[in-house]
Amino acid sequence: MKDQFGRTINYLRISVTDRCNFRCRYCMPEQGVTKRSHNDILTLEEIAEIADAAVSLGIMKIRLTGGEPLVRRGIEELCRKLKSNHNLKELTLTTNGSLLAEKAVILKQSGVDRLNISLDTLREERFRSITRGGSLGNVLQSIDAAEAAGFEGTKINTVLIGGFNDDEIPDFAGLTRDRALNVRFIELMPIGEANKWPKSAFLNAETVLERVPELKRIGTDGAAELYQIPGAAGKVGLIRPLSHNFCGECSRIRLTADGMLKPCLHSDTEIPLRGLHGEELLSAIREGIYNKPARHYINRDGISGTENRTMNEIGG
Ligand code: 5AD
Ligand code: SF4
Repeated sequence: MKDQFGRTINYLRISVTDRCNFRCRYCMPEQGVTKRSHNDILTLEEIAEIADAAVSLGIMKIRLTGGEPLVRRGIEELCRKLKSNHNLKELTLTTNGSLLAEKAVILKQSGVDRLNISLDTLREERFRSITRGGSLGNVLQSIDAAEAAGFEGTKINTVLIGGFNDDEIPDFAGLTRDRALNVRFIELMPIGEANKWPKSAFLNAETVLERVPELKRIGTDGAAELYQIPGAAGKVGLIRPLSHNFCGECSRIRLTADGMLKPCLHSDTEIPLRGLHGEELLSAIREGIYNKPARHYINRDGISGTENRTMNEIGG
């Protein structure tokens, strides 16, 4: 369906858990977050019911996120259940890659169409530092495992962090030379933990084009501007929530792990869906879509309008 500004909303991102086995510095506080108890989190049945209602209102693509979605028990069954709705055209999943090597085959069999793997550095020590304890090797193995399981068009999501990984931009872009990977550089957003970071950490994605001058513009893919190194097997994407506001083409809404419909990542407006069924559920989702805010107001000096949640609760 369309929102009040005429945007077609056909993409739902579902956070299936706020838990994560990493503690990325821009996402989660060091001490972790107060874990919501299992009772506060939607059951897999509730998630599927809400998803089906959303699909009946025109949602065609669902992405599962977290926290880390692969720490949620029963994630495979959820995928199968969602995929059994034939009006859903695409089911995708965003993961930190830590558990993917062992799950890639079952996820493929359960109907997941494509994967996004988050990876902010290719250096072991930096990886351990930014994730506060994660292992780079697991993620690299996961990328191979995804390919071996038959996943195509896998995207690597790299958050650009000034003074941390900007010297690795050519290495990340270089990954696309021989492999059909889609490396996407994402501008760090001042939300949650990253709200407190110094300005120097917030890089304009233009930096990527400066550091890899061979990149040629080849088109767009959703929120990403696509580039390619001539002759490369893969592609490089730029996602610029700060420097190029793409709210006018936004097609997405979100569902938090505790059952709140979030029409915009950068707004605290939330609509409780838990306990609603049938027509009540449908009209709550309709209302959320219709009232989706026109745009966000963050910029280099600003902060996100979302102040009540950290990113692990919303899903990136
Ligand atoms: N800015 C940009 N991306 C973020 N993510 C989490 N927090 C931020 C932020 N402040 C991304 C993660 C991952 C996805 C789940 O969301 O890096 O790729
Ligand atoms: Fe976990 Fe992703 Fe947040 Fe890192 S960015 S702590 S992997 S949810």
